[in-house]
Amino acid sequence: MAFVSVARLQDIPESSGLRVKIDEIGIGLYRIGDQIHAMEDACPHAGFPLSQGEFENCVIVCKAHGWPFDVRTGFAPNHSDGFPIPCFAVELRGDDVLVNIEERVNDPRRKRAASSAL
Ligand code: FES
Repeated sequence: MAFVSVARLQDIPESSGLRVKIDEIGIGLYRIGDQIHAMEDACPHAGFPLSQGEFENCVIVCKAHGWPFDVRTGFAPNHSDGFPIPCFAVELRGDDVLVNIEERVNDPRRKRAASSAL
């Protein structure tokens, strides 16, 4: 699968996410300045759609129980250990927002496990 058109740029709000679906997978789209970020839209705590939370300073806060995630990395702010939420490649073609869910932009492996294997 290649990049898929999922939204228009003007549909993505500044203070929350926009939930879209690709192949039944929920994806949250977030606007940071001129850039759009795409992150799987399921909280790792209990699966709540993160895009319904409050979005500020690159961080979405889950509406269910308050866990925060940086939409650029998929990690909790100031953490880079554990399993991040999958983040995907985004392309803008004019006002068209395209996402490729086969192209992850963050590392799916545990950082600590990777460094301890060295
Ligand atoms: S479901 Fe997101 S913090 Fe509990």
